[in-house]
This record gives sequence, C-alpha cells and structure tokens, in this order.
Amino acid sequence: MANKIDLKGHVAVVTGAARGFGYAIADRMLESGAAVSLWDMDKAALAKAARTLGHKGKVDHIVLDVTDETAVEDAAQQAARHLGPVDILVNNAGIAGPNRKTWEYTPGEFRRIIDVNLASAYICCAALVPDMKTRGYGRVINISSVAGKEGNPNAAPYSISKAALITLTKSLAKELADVNVLVNCVTPAAGNTEILKQMTQEHVNYMISRIPMGRLVEPKEVAALVAWLASADCSFSTGATFDISGGRSTY
Ligand SMILES: NC(=O)c1ccc[n+]([C@@H]2O[C@H](COP(=O)([O-])OP(=O)(O)OC[C@H]3O[C@@H](n4cnc5c(N)ncnc54)[C@H](O)[C@@H]3O)[C@@H](O)[C@H]2O)c1
Repeated sequence: MANKIDLKGHVAVVTGAARGFGYAIADRMLESGAAVSLWDMDKAALAKAARTLGHKGKVDHIVLDVTDETAVEDAAQQAARHLGPVDILVNNAGIAGPNRKTWEYTPGEFRRIIDVNLASAYICCAALVPDMKTRGYGRVINISSVAGKEGNPNAAPYSISKAALITLTKSLAKELADVNVLVNCVTPAAGNTEILKQMTQEHVNYMISRIPMGRLVEPKEVAALVAWLASADCSFSTGATFDISGGRSTY
C-alpha cells in the first residue's frame, strides 16, 4: 500500500506518459487526486494509457512531439482549458538512442537525443512556467539519469543531455525560488521499462552491474519520489538532484 500524498486540486502535465516511468508517474498522481494531462508522441499507446488511467481520475491526452514548440504551446493551452491551470510539470519524455562510441554517432542521431531529452524540457518549461510564476505556485520535476552524473560509455549524447538537464534544473530553480515554483530533478539508475529495448544487452548488463542493489528500479518507485516532489510537502528543496539509483551514485 502506497503512502498517501495529497495532490487534490492540482493539475499536472506528464510528458512521455504512454508507458514506463511517465505512465507510473501519472498513475500515482491520479491516485493522489491530481488531474493529469498525458502527453506522448505514440498515438496508439497514449490512447490506451488514457483509457486505463481514465478510470482512476480526470485525464486528458495530447499526441505531440515535445520538441515541437508550437505543438507544446497549443497543448499547454488545451490542458489548462480542459483541466484547469497547470501547476505541476514532469519533463519525462526521453530516448536512449543507440549505443555507440562517441565518434560513431551521426550528427543527426546526436542532435535528436539532445533535442528530445534536453530541448524539450526547456520548451515545456517555457510554455508552462510563466503561468505558475504568475499564480505563485508550481512544481517542476525533470527526469534525468545517473548517466548524467557519471557519463556512461557508449551513451555520450544521452549522458550529456541528462547532465545538462541537471544544470537546467539548477538555473531555473534559482530564477523561480522566490515565487514558490520549485524545480528539482531525479536521477534514476536503469529502470524496468521499454527504453531498454533501444540498448544493447551488453549495455543493460553494464548498467545493472553498477547498481549495488543488483536490480533495475521499478517505475512505481520513481513515481513515489516524483509524487512527493510534486506536492506541497516538498517546500524547501529546489534546484536539487534526488538520487534513486539503488546505491550506484551516492552523491
Ligand atoms: N528506464 C531507464 O532505464 C531510465 C533510467 C534513467 C532515466 N530514464 C529516463 O526516464 C524517462 C522515461 O523513460 P522510460 O524508461 O519510461 O522510457 P520509455 O521508452 O518506456 O517511455 C518513454 C515515452 O516517451 C515518449 N516519447 C519519446 N520521445 C518523445 C517525443 N519526442 N515527444 C513525445 N513523447 C516522446 C515515448 O513515446 C514513450 O512513450 C526518460 O527521460 C529516460 O531517459 C530512464
């Protein structure tokens, strides 16, 4: 039985909500009483997620590519129209990309990974944060990775994008610290989701071998931490990086 976190009356946007961490985060937020706008580019998977999650509470779902600033701007307006002013944003959509040596990535692959994992977070913040600032309340949670702290071999663009997401968290947090819009990030170790299909088995084995607890993190474990960070109980942490790595990166 999960501990209760109170998100009643709050409206969240969760990107990449069709599956994996994003789905589990949306699920946990609905259980806590929030209304949730589910954003994802996978139309079929998102519709299925919205049907299932719709039994738990108030949802809407928007098919978009989070790197498309016009689509994100429209989605932000639609979410507010359908559910009310958005005061929680979870920048979760992301891709691993292929595993290669740094010099073997094509420029197109490199740029796309940075775009999806990093630029999208800036784009979603630009669309949603000004209203939080005006209203004097907001919570932004960025889903980074231990790869961003450590720099995984054979995953340079991914690791770079996640490191930069930690820095975006720190900069934005300082800009918003006096208006009760708190910005934090989490750094999970390898998780039990479909993203692992994008990686070689060798890379997955490498990541598990680095985790002292010797297992993958479950999406619901990430969701529990994110739900707390999204709540009013999280009141004096901003610009921080919260570890959830089974002991891998204890700093
Ligand atoms: N699973 C892990 O091992 C792990 C570890 C650390 C951090 N993370 C991070 O957690 C986040 C979620 O990962 P996951 O494991 O749940 O992945 P996943 O592949 O299971 O799900 C990601 C979702 O994001 C969506 N998405 C991808 N690009 C998008 C785009 N441009 N626009 C809109 N939607 C898009 C996909 O359609 C998918 O539904 C990612 O940012 C990932 O980097 C994952």
